[in-house]
Amino acid sequence: MNKKSQTKSNTGDEPDNISRRNFLQGSLKALTALAAIELGAAGLLFLRARSLDGEYGGIMTVGKVEDFTPGSVVEYEDGNFFLVRVEDGGFMAVYRRCPHLGCTVQWVAKKQKFFCPCHAASFDPYGEFENQPVARALDTFKVFFEDDMVKVDTSQMRTREHHSAQDISYQS
Ligand code: FES
Repeated sequence: MNKKSQTKSNTGDEPDNISRRNFLQGSLKALTALAAIELGAAGLLFLRARSLDGEYGGIMTVGKVEDFTPGSVVEYEDGNFFLVRVEDGGFMAVYRRCPHLGCTVQWVAKKQKFFCPCHAASFDPYGEFENQPVARALDTFKVFFEDDMVKVDTSQMRTREHHSAQDISYQS
């Protein structure tokens, strides 16, 4: 009799146990999801901080204005760009990737041109295309100045059809 009533008593508690178990399982899932969201947000903040840390994808400080002579072209492999200081003192950061199929262009100083090794495209020092198969200029990144330092923002690429004077940045 005792045993029977015990069994009955257990059966009577089952819905409560299930509902408590469901509640605990639901709470655990919610906490796990919350933890995953927080970890994801922390990861994004970490990546964002890293991207601003002088690497490609962030803002890169390349040197003092006076470090670059007018008419010079300096390659920054880590930043994926050439820093061009044009004859009148302005600056451009020209992306190294060819707009045709993405090969890395090379600067040939004695010809004063960028050449693409893949399909023989060439570009003038401003990145303007000169021949087929490419029908547009090399892309650029924004150049700006803080105090006397030249900085390049590689987080946003500027796509362009042709070179224009607005693509050149000047220290004010
Ligand atoms: S990839 Fe540069 S010309 Fe084709």
